[in-house]
Amino acid sequence: MKGKKIAVIGGGKMGEVLASWIVSGKLLSSGDVTVADIVPARLNHLKNQYKVQVTGDNKKAVKDAGIVILAVKPQNMSEVLKELSPAIDRDKLVVSIAAGITIGFIQDHLKKGMRIVRVMPNTPALIGEGAAALAPGEHATEEDMQTARAIFDAVGVTVMVKEDLMDVVTGLSGSGPAYVFIIIDALSDAGVLMGLPRDIAQKLAAQTLLGAAKLFLTTGKHPGELRDMVTSPGGTTIAGIKALEQGGLRAALIAAVEAATLRSKELGKGK
Ligand SMILES: NC(=O)c1ccc[n+]([C@@H]2O[C@H](COP(=O)([O-])OP(=O)(O)OC[C@H]3O[C@@H](n4cnc5c(N)ncnc54)[C@H](OP(=O)(O)O)[C@@H]3O)[C@@H](O)[C@H]2O)c1
Repeated sequence: MKGKKIAVIGGGKMGEVLASWIVSGKLLSSGDVTVADIVPARLNHLKNQYKVQVTGDNKKAVKDAGIVILAVKPQNMSEVLKELSPAIDRDKLVVSIAAGITIGFIQDHLKKGMRIVRVMPNTPALIGEGAAALAPGEHATEEDMQTARAIFDAVGVTVMVKEDLMDVVTGLSGSGPAYVFIIIDALSDAGVLMGLPRDIAQKLAAQTLLGAAKLFLTTGKHPGELRDMVTSPGGTTIAGIKALEQGGLRAALIAAVEAATLRSKELGKGK
């Protein structure tokens, strides 16, 4: 990454997260990060908060950049790509985080043979705990993938997938934080039902999810094995698990990811 310059096009929620973590994680110095946005108030905020370079001119932002991160909303991608096309050559790596926007769509708006990487991040990136999947375009090199990965490793964990799996990623880790918030809320309600104060129930519920996830990631044991470790014969946990199975939690989560994946595919076709 050293010696490179990054332009972030779109200084909204995700653009801010990426710019701020690139700087705070010392991937690049603030002078090497330029954020472009159409909202002057956003630019002032980003400049004051992170000392990054800012501009209202997208083409100016990408001029000296080796890496261009496209972080505008999907509906703005077409106009932004048309505007940037004359300013983007093969010497620049284009990284898009726009949900549902395919590499083919980006390539169709740029000159032929551009180096493109598509990324699907998720909201816990806001606190450096994101899960992002990266897919290479036809002309992206191994080094391009490493570069893109370094950026998203700064805001969480990364995995590599083929582009046709991006809809599943969207349905699982992209939409997944919403499912988990519902689970936290439901567990909290249950705690309140059984007599706990709301704040204590929420704290216990959230930390239980966090702790269990960390235990899984740290030990590498199968989730079933970890579950068995806390499920003693005739005990409390197996009574709870019976209720979960009767309530169809497992089937509901599988159906949720399936439905979100199918919806992502539909959106990709403009439906
Ligand atoms: N937020 C997430 O959790 C998440 C997760 C995965 C992927 N993504 C993807 O990340 C991208 C950004 O999402 P976000 O939540 O950060 O959106 P956002 O907060 O709306 O940020 C986009 C920013 O780009 C600005 N913008 C609009 N048109 C522009 C243009 N022509 N040139 C430069 N800047 C322009 C917007 O200004 P206005 O507000 O005036 O339009 C806004 O400040 C989206 O494509 C989304 O699909 C987001």
